[in-house]
Amino acid sequence: MEVVGSPVLYVLAAQLCAVYSQPALPLVINTWPFRSATQAAWNVLASGRSALDAVERGCTQCEIDQCDGTVGYGGSPDESGETTLDAMIMCGSTMKVGAVANLRRIKNAIGVARAVMEHTKHTFLVGESASLFAESMGFVCEDLTTNRSLTIYSKWLDQYCQPNYRRNVTPDPEKSCGPYKPLKGLKNDKPASPQKAVDVHSHDTIGMIAIDKTGNVATGTSTNGASHKVPGRVGDSPMIGAGSYADSSVGGAAATGDGDTMMRFLPSYQAVENMRMGADPTSACQKAIARIQKHVPVFFGAIICANNTGSYGAACGKAPGFSQFHYTVFKPGLSQPREEVVDCL
Ligand SMILES: *[C@@H]1O[C@H](CO)[C@@H](O)[C@H](O)[C@H]1NC(C)=O
Ligand SMILES: *[C@@H]1O[C@H](CO)[C@@H](O)[C@H](O)[C@H]1NC(C)=O
Repeated sequence: MEVVGSPVLYVLAAQLCAVYSQPALPLVINTWPFRSATQAAWNVLASGRSALDAVERGCTQCEIDQCDGTVGYGGSPDESGETTLDAMIMCGSTMKVGAVANLRRIKNAIGVARAVMEHTKHTFLVGESASLFAESMGFVCEDLTTNRSLTIYSKWLDQYCQPNYRRNVTPDPEKSCGPYKPLKGLKNDKPASPQKAVDVHSHDTIGMIAIDKTGNVATGTSTNGASHKVPGRVGDSPMIGAGSYADSSVGGAAATGDGDTMMRFLPSYQAVENMRMGADPTSACQKAIARIQKHVPVFFGAIICANNTGSYGAACGKAPGFSQFHYTVFKPGLSQPREEVVDCL
């Protein structure tokens, strides 16, 4: 039988070639199994629109879906029961950023972040004033409280406001609700017991990197922060270089986890700089996590990294109840978002 030269083999060879020479761009990668966000961002890139549009649309989808209850309205009530939002968006080609924190009464936090970037010469707006700005830009003002967030809040009140983020105060914050007063001289300064306060599912943020087919990188984040946070608390997500960072001449990174720890190390900036110095995306992510672990051996956190040719990776720090990190990608050759997983360091 004459096999060599058979049309079937040629077709097969052509298909194999197609698989192996698949372009790596465009690319969408985001933290956690938030597939509908990945899909929404991909649809934007597939229609030829910008990486910035893709990130905004993807994170907005999570705000609408209330991903895990930790993005968007109706989740993570603070000590007074209110849900407030943090978000940022960064364009790696212009190096422009818009960010908002402690945003009240507006659901589309990343939309407001983009409005800060495009309709002001500022970079970062916070609190009540950010909400007034949003309203003036046409965003709808509405209550972010839901039955779900009310239930979480009343359960927390019923269990003596446990867990909470207070320390060195009286009455004992591990037993009582406030109002609290500072303890003089920090006599009862207990070693930090983050695990007690940190439920690994009270911190899931969406962080996203989108790269269009010519290598323009954009990143963004959106979150409602940490459950039972002290009102006014801002996490790492809206902070430039902490929550995410983009530079189209290198790539992008986005982080999630214990923001109060992570923000001190600017892990997203660090990861992008690691790639600039030649690290592949996976080791760039690993080094950013290892840098934090050198100072805080046990913390809950993860980071995703992608370079501007479409290679990507992720890393996470092992903490009680957290040994693997799930993230989602969409790239050429896939017909739907794909969940991937990495073992924590
Ligand atoms: C919230 O709870 C109230 C009272 O239980 C109920 O009447 C209302 O329909 C609920 N709203 C939603 C959106 O579930
Ligand atoms: C991106 O990372 C991949 C995998 O390490 C590497 O082969 C590629 O050269 C990197 N791209 C750039 C522009 O550095």
